[in-house]
Amino acid sequence: MTVDTERLRAALAPLARVALGTWPTPLVPLPRLGEALGLDLWMKRDECSGLAMGGNKARKLEFVLGAAIAEGARTVVTAGPITSNHTMMTAAAARRLGLHCIVVLGGRAPATATGNLSLTHLYGADVHITPMDTADPSTEDLAAAQQLSARLVAESGGYWIPPGATMPSSVPGYAAAVLEVLDQLGGAWPFDEVVVAYGTGSTSAGVYAGLALAGLPATVRAVAVSSRAAMARFESQSPAALVQAAIDLYGWPSALAEGPARCDWVRPPDEPGYGLRTAGSDDALRRVAREEGYLLDPTYTAKAAAALFAMASDGRLRPGARVLFIHTGGLPSTAAASHQETTS
Ligand SMILES: Cc1ncc(COP(=O)(O)O)c(C=O)c1O
Repeated sequence: MTVDTERLRAALAPLARVALGTWPTPLVPLPRLGEALGLDLWMKRDECSGLAMGGNKARKLEFVLGAAIAEGARTVVTAGPITSNHTMMTAAAARRLGLHCIVVLGGRAPATATGNLSLTHLYGADVHITPMDTADPSTEDLAAAQQLSARLVAESGGYWIPPGATMPSSVPGYAAAVLEVLDQLGGAWPFDEVVVAYGTGSTSAGVYAGLALAGLPATVRAVAVSSRAAMARFESQSPAALVQAAIDLYGWPSALAEGPARCDWVRPPDEPGYGLRTAGSDDALRRVAREEGYLLDPTYTAKAAAALFAMASDGRLRPGARVLFIHTGGLPSTAAASHQETTS
Protein backbone atom coordinates (compact mmCIF):
# COMPACT_ATOMS: atom_id res chain seq x y z
CA MET A 1 0.00 0.00 0.00
CA THR A 2 1.34 3.44 -0.94
CA VAL A 3 0.10 6.17 1.36
CA ASP A 4 -0.05 9.45 -0.53
CA THR A 5 0.16 11.76 2.47
CA GLU A 6 1.64 14.52 0.33
CA ARG A 7 -1.31 14.52 -2.11
CA LEU A 8 -3.67 14.98 0.83
CA ARG A 9 -1.45 17.68 2.36
CA ALA A 10 -1.21 19.50 -0.96
CA ALA A 11 -5.01 19.40 -1.44
CA LEU A 12 -5.52 21.15 1.91
CA ALA A 13 -2.56 23.55 1.96
CA PRO A 14 -3.94 26.31 -0.32
CA LEU A 15 -7.37 26.54 1.33
CA ALA A 16 -8.41 29.52 3.45
CA ARG A 17 -8.43 28.49 7.10
CA VAL A 18 -8.68 30.08 10.54
CA ALA A 19 -7.31 28.62 13.80
CA LEU A 20 -10.05 27.46 16.17
CA GLY A 21 -9.06 24.04 17.52
CA THR A 22 -6.27 22.57 19.61
CA TRP A 23 -4.52 19.98 17.44
CA PRO A 24 -3.78 17.15 17.42
CA THR A 25 -6.59 15.64 19.47
CA PRO A 26 -5.62 12.48 21.37
CA LEU A 27 -5.68 9.09 19.64
CA VAL A 28 -6.28 6.40 22.29
CA PRO A 29 -6.76 2.63 22.34
CA LEU A 30 -9.96 1.11 23.75
CA PRO A 31 -8.39 -2.22 24.79
CA ARG A 32 -11.14 -3.74 26.96
CA LEU A 33 -13.95 -2.97 24.55
CA GLY A 34 -11.75 -4.03 21.64
CA GLU A 35 -11.08 -7.39 23.25
CA ALA A 36 -14.76 -7.94 24.04
CA LEU A 37 -15.73 -7.10 20.43
CA GLY A 38 -12.85 -8.96 18.78
CA LEU A 39 -11.48 -5.75 17.25
CA ASP A 40 -8.33 -3.65 17.45
CA LEU A 41 -10.26 -0.57 18.56
CA TRP A 42 -9.00 3.02 18.78
CA MET A 43 -10.71 6.34 19.35
CA LYS A 44 -9.91 9.80 17.97
CA ARG A 45 -10.90 12.13 20.77
CA ASP A 46 -12.38 15.08 18.90
CA GLU A 47 -14.49 15.88 21.96
CA CYS A 48 -11.18 17.49 23.00
CA SER A 49 -11.00 19.76 19.95
CA GLY A 50 -10.66 22.85 22.10
CA LEU A 51 -13.53 25.04 20.87
CA ALA A 52 -16.60 25.52 23.08
CA MET A 53 -16.08 22.28 25.05
CA GLY A 54 -15.08 20.34 21.98
CA GLY A 55 -16.58 18.48 19.07
CA ASN A 56 -16.40 17.99 15.33
CA LYS A 57 -17.48 21.51 14.32
CA ALA A 58 -14.10 23.00 15.23
CA ARG A 59 -12.50 21.24 12.25
CA LYS A 60 -15.25 22.16 9.79
CA LEU A 61 -15.53 25.77 10.93
CA GLU A 62 -11.79 26.37 10.50
CA PHE A 63 -12.35 26.06 6.74
CA VAL A 64 -15.91 27.42 6.47
CA LEU A 65 -15.15 30.56 8.48
CA GLY A 66 -11.81 30.87 6.70
CA ALA A 67 -13.73 31.05 3.42
CA ALA A 68 -16.33 33.42 4.93
CA ILE A 69 -13.69 35.86 6.17
CA ALA A 70 -11.83 35.65 2.84
CA GLU A 71 -15.10 36.77 1.23
CA GLY A 72 -15.35 39.71 3.64
CA ALA A 73 -18.11 38.39 5.94
CA ARG A 74 -18.77 40.29 9.18
CA THR A 75 -21.92 38.34 10.12
CA VAL A 76 -22.72 34.63 9.81
CA VAL A 77 -26.19 33.08 9.83
CA THR A 78 -26.73 29.42 10.62
CA ALA A 79 -29.45 26.99 11.72
CA GLY A 80 -30.08 23.72 13.50
CA PRO A 81 -32.30 21.96 16.01
CA ILE A 82 -32.78 23.63 19.39
CA THR A 83 -30.26 21.23 20.96
CA SER A 84 -27.73 21.88 18.19
CA ASN A 85 -24.03 21.58 18.98
CA HIS A 86 -23.27 23.14 15.61
CA THR A 87 -25.07 26.44 16.21
CA MET A 88 -23.55 26.73 19.70
CA MET A 89 -20.03 26.10 18.39
CA THR A 90 -20.57 28.50 15.46
CA ALA A 91 -21.64 31.18 17.94
CA ALA A 92 -18.44 30.63 19.97
CA ALA A 93 -16.22 30.52 16.87
CA ALA A 94 -17.80 33.72 15.54
CA ARG A 95 -17.00 35.55 18.78
CA ARG A 96 -13.39 34.31 18.68
CA LEU A 97 -13.09 35.85 15.25
CA GLY A 98 -14.99 39.05 16.04
CA LEU A 99 -17.96 38.11 13.85
CA HIS A 100 -21.65 38.56 14.64
CA CYS A 101 -23.70 35.34 14.65
CA ILE A 102 -27.42 34.89 13.92
CA VAL A 103 -28.94 31.50 14.70
CA VAL A 104 -32.25 29.91 13.65
CA LEU A 105 -33.27 27.03 15.91
CA GLY A 106 -36.07 24.56 15.21
CA GLY A 107 -37.92 23.29 18.26
CA ARG A 108 -39.96 24.54 21.16
CA ALA A 109 -38.69 27.42 23.28
CA PRO A 110 -38.25 26.08 26.83
CA ALA A 111 -39.25 28.14 29.87
CA THR A 112 -35.58 28.14 30.89
CA ALA A 113 -32.73 27.74 28.38
CA THR A 114 -30.33 24.93 29.23
CA GLY A 115 -27.49 23.07 27.47
CA ASN A 116 -26.53 24.29 24.02
CA LEU A 117 -29.36 26.82 23.84
CA SER A 118 -28.16 28.52 26.99
CA LEU A 119 -24.55 28.48 25.70
CA THR A 120 -25.61 29.89 22.33
CA HIS A 121 -27.14 32.86 24.18
CA LEU A 122 -24.04 33.12 26.36
CA TYR A 123 -21.81 33.44 23.28
CA GLY A 124 -23.91 36.39 22.24
CA ALA A 125 -25.70 34.96 19.21
CA ASP A 126 -28.92 36.55 18.00
CA VAL A 127 -31.29 33.57 18.49
CA HIS A 128 -34.57 32.96 16.58
CA ILE A 129 -36.70 29.94 17.48
CA THR A 130 -39.14 28.43 14.98
CA PRO A 131 -41.58 25.58 15.87
CA MET A 132 -40.47 22.07 14.92
CA ASP A 133 -40.65 18.47 16.07
CA THR A 134 -36.91 17.81 15.78
CA ALA A 135 -37.23 14.00 15.80
CA ASP A 136 -39.84 14.04 13.01
CA PRO A 137 -39.88 17.48 11.36
CA SER A 138 -42.76 18.22 8.98
CA THR A 139 -42.09 19.54 5.49
CA GLU A 140 -43.96 22.74 6.42
CA ASP A 141 -41.87 23.38 9.55
CA LEU A 142 -38.65 22.73 7.63
CA ALA A 143 -39.78 25.15 4.90
CA ALA A 144 -40.68 27.80 7.51
CA ALA A 145 -37.20 27.48 9.08
CA GLN A 146 -35.60 27.85 5.66
CA GLN A 147 -37.68 30.94 4.88
CA LEU A 148 -36.77 32.53 8.20
CA SER A 149 -33.08 31.80 7.59
CA ALA A 150 -33.28 33.26 4.08
CA ARG A 151 -34.97 36.40 5.40
CA LEU A 152 -32.31 36.87 8.10
CA VAL A 153 -29.52 36.38 5.56
CA ALA A 154 -31.14 38.97 3.28
CA GLU A 155 -31.70 41.49 6.10
CA SER A 156 -28.25 41.11 7.67
CA GLY A 157 -26.18 40.56 4.53
CA GLY A 158 -24.72 37.66 6.49
CA TYR A 159 -22.79 34.64 5.23
CA TRP A 160 -25.04 31.55 5.19
CA ILE A 161 -23.74 28.41 6.87
CA PRO A 162 -26.20 25.51 6.48
CA PRO A 163 -27.11 23.20 9.40
CA GLY A 164 -24.09 21.21 10.54
CA ALA A 165 -21.91 23.49 8.38
CA THR A 166 -22.55 20.87 5.73
CA MET A 167 -21.42 22.49 2.50
CA PRO A 168 -18.55 21.69 0.15
CA SER A 169 -16.21 24.05 2.01
CA SER A 170 -16.53 22.08 5.28
CA VAL A 171 -15.40 18.77 3.75
CA PRO A 172 -11.68 19.67 4.16
CA GLY A 173 -12.18 19.72 7.95
CA TYR A 174 -12.26 15.97 8.35
CA ALA A 175 -9.88 15.36 5.48
CA ALA A 176 -7.49 17.34 7.71
CA ALA A 177 -8.31 14.94 10.56
CA VAL A 178 -7.09 12.03 8.40
CA LEU A 179 -3.88 13.95 7.74
CA GLU A 180 -3.57 14.62 11.47
CA VAL A 181 -3.80 10.88 12.26
CA LEU A 182 -1.20 10.12 9.60
CA ASP A 183 1.11 12.73 11.11
CA GLN A 184 0.46 11.41 14.65
CA LEU A 185 1.49 7.94 13.51
CA GLY A 186 4.56 8.98 11.56
CA GLY A 187 2.88 8.47 8.19
CA ALA A 188 1.34 5.07 8.95
CA TRP A 189 -2.39 4.33 8.61
CA PRO A 190 -3.20 1.20 10.60
CA PHE A 191 -7.02 1.25 10.29
CA ASP A 192 -9.34 -0.79 8.06
CA GLU A 193 -12.49 0.96 9.24
CA VAL A 194 -13.52 4.39 10.51
CA VAL A 195 -16.83 4.59 12.39
CA VAL A 196 -18.43 8.01 12.77
CA ALA A 197 -21.87 9.52 13.38
CA TYR A 198 -23.73 10.94 10.37
CA GLY A 199 -26.02 13.90 11.14
CA THR A 200 -25.80 16.28 8.18
CA GLY A 201 -22.91 14.40 6.59
CA SER A 202 -19.84 16.57 6.20
CA THR A 203 -17.87 14.86 8.96
CA SER A 204 -18.07 11.44 7.30
CA ALA A 205 -17.66 13.01 3.85
CA GLY A 206 -14.50 14.74 5.04
CA VAL A 207 -13.04 11.49 6.37
CA TYR A 208 -13.91 9.80 3.07
CA ALA A 209 -12.26 12.61 1.11
CA GLY A 210 -9.14 12.36 3.28
CA LEU A 211 -8.90 8.60 2.82
CA ALA A 212 -9.47 8.92 -0.93
CA LEU A 213 -6.93 11.73 -1.38
CA ALA A 214 -4.29 9.77 0.57
CA GLY A 215 -5.13 6.56 -1.31
CA LEU A 216 -5.92 4.63 1.87
CA PRO A 217 -7.68 1.23 1.70
CA ALA A 218 -10.18 1.90 4.47
CA THR A 219 -13.96 2.11 4.76
CA VAL A 220 -15.91 4.90 6.47
CA ARG A 221 -19.02 3.63 8.27
CA ALA A 222 -21.19 6.75 8.42
CA VAL A 223 -23.90 5.96 10.98
CA ALA A 224 -27.12 7.96 10.57
CA VAL A 225 -28.62 9.31 13.80
CA SER A 226 -31.98 10.38 12.30
CA SER A 227 -34.87 8.29 10.96
CA ARG A 228 -34.90 7.46 7.26
CA ALA A 229 -38.16 9.36 6.76
CA ALA A 230 -36.76 12.53 8.36
CA MET A 231 -33.55 12.24 6.34
CA ALA A 232 -35.58 12.08 3.15
CA ARG A 233 -37.48 15.20 4.22
CA PHE A 234 -34.36 17.22 4.87
CA GLU A 235 -32.87 15.80 1.69
CA SER A 236 -29.71 14.28 3.19
CA GLN A 237 -26.92 13.81 0.72
CA SER A 238 -24.74 10.73 0.75
CA PRO A 239 -21.12 11.25 1.89
CA ALA A 240 -20.02 10.37 -1.67
CA ALA A 241 -22.18 13.15 -3.15
CA LEU A 242 -20.72 15.66 -0.70
CA VAL A 243 -17.18 14.59 -1.51
CA GLN A 244 -17.94 15.02 -5.20
CA ALA A 245 -19.16 18.57 -4.47
CA ALA A 246 -15.85 19.32 -2.72
CA ILE A 247 -13.87 17.81 -5.62
CA ASP A 248 -15.80 20.09 -7.99
CA LEU A 249 -15.23 23.15 -5.77
CA TYR A 250 -11.50 22.68 -5.21
CA GLY A 251 -10.52 20.87 -8.39
CA TRP A 252 -9.11 18.03 -6.27
CA PRO A 253 -8.00 14.97 -8.21
CA SER A 254 -11.01 12.76 -8.76
CA ALA A 255 -9.59 10.10 -6.48
CA LEU A 256 -12.83 8.54 -5.33
CA ALA A 257 -13.67 6.10 -8.05
CA GLU A 258 -10.05 5.11 -8.67
CA GLY A 259 -8.83 4.62 -5.12
CA PRO A 260 -9.30 1.92 -2.50
CA ALA A 261 -11.22 4.08 0.01
CA ARG A 262 -14.87 3.19 0.51
CA CYS A 263 -17.86 4.70 2.27
CA ASP A 264 -20.74 2.73 3.71
CA TRP A 265 -23.73 4.92 4.62
CA VAL A 266 -25.20 3.00 7.57
CA ARG A 267 -28.88 3.87 8.00
CA PRO A 268 -30.30 1.59 10.71
CA PRO A 269 -33.89 0.74 9.67
CA ASP A 270 -35.05 0.84 13.31
CA GLU A 271 -33.54 4.27 14.06
CA PRO A 272 -36.42 6.07 15.85
CA GLY A 273 -35.37 9.66 15.20
CA TYR A 274 -32.95 12.46 15.95
CA GLY A 275 -32.43 12.93 19.67
CA LEU A 276 -34.45 9.84 20.66
CA ARG A 277 -32.39 7.44 22.72
CA THR A 278 -32.58 3.71 22.11
CA ALA A 279 -31.79 0.68 24.27
CA GLY A 280 -28.73 0.17 22.07
CA SER A 281 -27.46 3.74 22.42
CA ASP A 282 -28.01 3.75 26.20
CA ASP A 283 -26.13 0.46 26.43
CA ALA A 284 -23.26 1.78 24.27
CA LEU A 285 -22.96 4.95 26.34
CA ARG A 286 -22.84 2.89 29.55
CA ARG A 287 -20.36 0.32 28.17
CA VAL A 288 -17.89 2.93 26.94
CA ALA A 289 -18.11 4.72 30.30
CA ARG A 290 -17.70 1.57 32.40
CA GLU A 291 -15.15 -0.30 30.28
CA GLU A 292 -12.97 2.60 29.19
CA GLY A 293 -13.85 5.67 31.27
CA TYR A 294 -14.87 7.90 28.35
CA LEU A 295 -18.15 9.80 28.10
CA LEU A 296 -20.24 9.68 24.92
CA ASP A 297 -23.21 11.91 24.12
CA PRO A 298 -26.64 10.31 23.66
CA THR A 299 -27.56 11.99 20.35
CA TYR A 300 -24.58 11.18 18.12
CA THR A 301 -21.66 9.25 19.53
CA ALA A 302 -23.68 6.74 21.57
CA LYS A 303 -25.67 5.87 18.43
CA ALA A 304 -22.49 5.53 16.36
CA ALA A 305 -20.97 3.31 19.07
CA ALA A 306 -24.17 1.21 19.19
CA ALA A 307 -23.87 0.65 15.45
CA LEU A 308 -20.19 -0.24 15.86
CA PHE A 309 -21.14 -2.91 18.44
CA ALA A 310 -23.90 -4.23 16.13
CA MET A 311 -21.54 -4.36 13.13
CA ALA A 312 -18.95 -6.25 15.21
CA SER A 313 -21.51 -8.82 16.28
CA ASP A 314 -23.09 -9.37 12.83
CA GLY A 315 -19.73 -9.57 11.03
CA ARG A 316 -19.89 -6.34 9.00
CA LEU A 317 -16.72 -5.50 10.93
CA ARG A 318 -14.63 -8.65 10.50
CA PRO A 319 -12.99 -10.23 13.54
CA GLY A 320 -9.63 -8.60 14.20
CA ALA A 321 -10.45 -5.52 12.10
CA ARG A 322 -8.52 -2.38 13.03
CA VAL A 323 -11.22 0.19 13.76
CA LEU A 324 -10.98 3.92 14.42
CA PHE A 325 -14.01 5.37 16.20
CA ILE A 326 -14.29 9.16 15.99
CA HIS A 327 -15.68 10.81 19.12
CA THR A 328 -17.33 13.84 17.54
CA GLY A 329 -18.26 15.55 20.81
CA GLY A 330 -21.72 16.66 21.83
CA LEU A 331 -20.97 16.62 25.54
CA PRO A 332 -22.36 20.06 26.41
CA SER A 333 -25.83 18.78 25.56
CA THR A 334 -25.10 16.54 27.77
CA ALA A 335 -24.89 12.88 28.56
CA ALA A 336 -24.02 13.43 32.19
CA ALA A 337 -27.04 15.60 32.85
CA SER A 338 -29.64 13.69 30.87
CA HIS A 339 -28.57 10.09 31.27
CA GLN A 340 -30.61 8.46 34.03
CA GLU A 341 -28.32 5.94 35.66
CA THR A 342 -29.53 3.47 38.25
CA THR A 343 -27.38 3.00 41.32
CA SER A 344 -27.86 -0.75 41.57
C1 LIG B 1 -21.56 15.82 18.44
C2 LIG B 1 -21.85 15.59 17.00
N1 LIG B 1 -21.43 14.44 16.44
C3 LIG B 1 -21.67 14.16 15.14
C4 LIG B 1 -22.37 15.05 14.34
C5 LIG B 1 -22.61 14.65 12.93
O1 LIG B 1 -21.80 15.37 12.07
P1 LIG B 1 -22.29 15.69 10.60
O2 LIG B 1 -23.45 16.63 10.74
O3 LIG B 1 -21.13 16.29 9.94
O4 LIG B 1 -22.73 14.40 10.00
C6 LIG B 1 -22.82 16.26 14.89
C7 LIG B 1 -23.58 17.28 14.10
O5 LIG B 1 -24.44 17.07 13.32
C8 LIG B 1 -22.55 16.54 16.25
O6 LIG B 1 -22.97 17.68 16.82
